[in-house]
Amino acid sequence: GTARIGVTGLAVMGRNLARNFARNGLTVAVHNRTASRTRALVDDFGDEGSFVACESAEEFVAALERPRRLMIMVKAGDATDAVIEEFAPLLEEGDIVIDGGNAHFADTRRREKALRERGIHFVGVGVSGGEEGALNGPSIMPGGSAASYEALGPLLERIAARAPDGTPCVTHVGPDGAGHFVKMVHNGIEYADMQLIAEAYHLLRAVAGYSPARIAETFRTWNTGRLDSYLIEITAEVLAHTDAATGEPFVDVVADRAEQKGTGRWTVQTALDLGVPVSGIAEAVFARSLSGHAELRESSRGLPGPGPAALDEEAAARFADRVEQALYASKIVSYTQGFHQVRAGSEEYGWEVDPGAVAAIWRAGCIIRAAFLDRIREAYDTRPGLPSLLTDKLFREEIAAAQDDWREVVATAARQGVPTPGFSAALAYYDALRADRLPAALTQGQRDFFGAHTYRRTDREGAFHTLWAGDRSEVAAD
Ligand code: 6PG
Repeated sequence: GTARIGVTGLAVMGRNLARNFARNGLTVAVHNRTASRTRALVDDFGDEGSFVACESAEEFVAALERPRRLMIMVKAGDATDAVIEEFAPLLEEGDIVIDGGNAHFADTRRREKALRERGIHFVGVGVSGGEEGALNGPSIMPGGSAASYEALGPLLERIAARAPDGTPCVTHVGPDGAGHFVKMVHNGIEYADMQLIAEAYHLLRAVAGYSPARIAETFRTWNTGRLDSYLIEITAEVLAHTDAATGEPFVDVVADRAEQKGTGRWTVQTALDLGVPVSGIAEAVFARSLSGHAELRESSRGLPGPGPAALDEEAAARFADRVEQALYASKIVSYTQGFHQVRAGSEEYGWEVDPGAVAAIWRAGCIIRAAFLDRIREAYDTRPGLPSLLTDKLFREEIAAAQDDWREVVATAARQGVPTPGFSAALAYYDALRADRLPAALTQGQRDFFGAHTYRRTDREGAFHTLWAGDRSEVAAD
């Protein structure tokens, strides 16, 4: 075979990745279960580069140069297993099967192990950037063995987005499921970013009394500063959009029930298993789920509570500036939490993920791309063992400068009855981490009281139990 890489599964993501490879000078074998899609791709885009259209699985495998690089772009889940089972018997030792779907990292670990035992490399690749990114340059997060990356990495570098300094947004994240794990956390952070932006919008609308068009302007201004990011940019576009049918702001005619395909939920489920407090991501997932409980919301609509008080123009502008500070500080916290999860996953599975390299490949191509990520890269490059982003000198100073406004915004939201679970959870996390003493000592006392679960002391080693039902003397428990 002569094709450098093959793509099977030619729905929009697969098709666009195949076109991206071809546009960058690589001969691509293309295959789809229903052959009409394969023909349509070559008919419509054949002039963009060199495609080898394949009707059968055998033809597809034969079209690939060795070691074969075969990329699967089908729906995550059972469909992926079915396609692997279809192709694996046709492959030879050293060939590489690549899964570019949004697979759960645990599935990727299982598949990697099973194929490794058959002498085949399996590479789970996180791909971010949606349809547009797949075509013009996504951020790419490959896992799998180091040997497979040697054969695959140079091709991925050709199609990846470029960071502002020109480096391709792809790196070997780590073995087996590391790439899909990091993609999962990317999506969790994406949820948290979106929720924080939504809260900022809600506050500007309800407390400052701004119109959607005005908020679009505010976001555009913010986007020229430290909040410069793709998500803020598209938020301004959405807010400035007018519904053609009614002439109303688009955001006022869309049903306020957010949906989700599941990667944010996976992030939180995994964080719970790893014991990592990703409260910002969790609040974002819960906020979507709450919004979808139509009956519950309907029956609760009349519950007593305050409403927003109108501000004059000057106070509104001042408040808007404060919201920018609150948004930025909360964003630092949610990335701190996400990177904590990356570190915890890496330790749990022995991946040795380099957090600075992860931040670097999120600088362009992906949904959370932002100027901010270069700051995170810098923080980890300066101090590779940085225990928490909050302890980085620059982030620490920025939060110090933002926190009065952040607290004021959260307090105002509480007083005026505007829900800000993201801002509030971020602030609670910050205050909990910086606290000298936490009430967890009391929790331990309660646990010891009702269940003899024992506790440790600040002044002596060992586990202890107090005889709560007896004379309340203390006994050593181990
Ligand atoms: C990306 C996106 C993408 C994801 C959805 C999230 O990185 O390009 O994260 O992979 O599928 O956009 O979708 P939900 O909001 O439906 O969970």
